[in-house]
Amino acid sequence: MKEFKIAVLAGDGIGPEISVQGVDVMTAVCEKFGHKVNYEYAVCGADAIDKVGDPFPEATFETCKNADAVLFSAVGDPKFDNNPTAKVRPEQGLLAMRKKLGLFANIRPVQTFKCLLHKSPLRAELVEGADFICIRELTGGMYFGEKYQDNDKAYDTNMYTRPEIERILKVGFEYAMKRNKHLTVVDKANVLASSRLWRQIAQEMAPSYPEVVTDYMYVDNAAMRMIQDPRFFDVMVTENTFGDILTDEGSCISGSMGLLPSASTGESTPVFEPIHGSWPQAKGLNIANPLAQILSVAMLFEYFDCKEEGALIRRAVDASLDANVRTGDIQVEGEKAYSTSEVGQWIVEYIQKA
Ligand code: IPM
Ligand code: MN
Repeated sequence: MKEFKIAVLAGDGIGPEISVQGVDVMTAVCEKFGHKVNYEYAVCGADAIDKVGDPFPEATFETCKNADAVLFSAVGDPKFDNNPTAKVRPEQGLLAMRKKLGLFANIRPVQTFKCLLHKSPLRAELVEGADFICIRELTGGMYFGEKYQDNDKAYDTNMYTRPEIERILKVGFEYAMKRNKHLTVVDKANVLASSRLWRQIAQEMAPSYPEVVTDYMYVDNAAMRMIQDPRFFDVMVTENTFGDILTDEGSCISGSMGLLPSASTGESTPVFEPIHGSWPQAKGLNIANPLAQILSVAMLFEYFDCKEEGALIRRAVDASLDANVRTGDIQVEGEKAYSTSEVGQWIVEYIQKA
């Protein structure tokens, strides 16, 4: 029996709708396995700007710090997107959370579901069986380096220090050891000094993992390889900005942004969240795909070594797909598009009956 204290940060747009489904699945699994769970709800993103003027208020930080895990949904609101002079933006809340919790390693698995192969814009025979993990550095690089902006000039500094690079590469090598022992270090070492340091350190570390086949790939080439031959990859590790871009590309392999979960880990409380955004156009419509959020709960259990719990969630998700209980983004043509809550509750019931 375990006891989980979960900070729930629903955020903006479709966030609150998918959050409810994630929480219900978490509760159902805990009941099934005799775990205790307590939820503490906290505001973030545009919602928190509206309520308290800060996208990641101190109270939310405290709630996260004191929890065992954070179940995060999404932030972002269009009223900020077209205003480049806005002083405070919802995304800053997400970045502040990552930085303050020291979440330097973002684990983004890219997988295919057999029954959804037709949803990928890529040919089924290319993507079938693709299964890799992108490990994205999450608290360094351009996102957090020195920035400047005036009317005529702007810059973002892509700075990485040796300890920052070493600790994320270590995560990469360790994941490769647990999987198929193939690590691809993605960089732009032909142009960027920061990338050259990444590559140098990776080459220094590689001999300590003699079983791992380590290769080095420029990010432009990796972007191409991902759609040409996604099965090439097992574990890829890369800097913050490249990882952001490549994982959106990766979601096309699965067929929908609404399918991919992620885990962010590091020095403090880990965060589990979908890789997709807040889809403001769908807010309140009960049409968003809850699977990325629900699979984030599976990753949460797996993080705490609750393998059976995670496996049950994955089975429930597979069963919902097989039963065609799917939201519109992944539904078969001509079939009913189920709502966010219908899909979520179907999965909850499957877990209860299992
Ligand atoms: C992501 C998102 C964020 C990022 C945004 C919302 C700041 O795109 O988690 O991939 O760029 O990291
Ligand atoms: Mn992104």
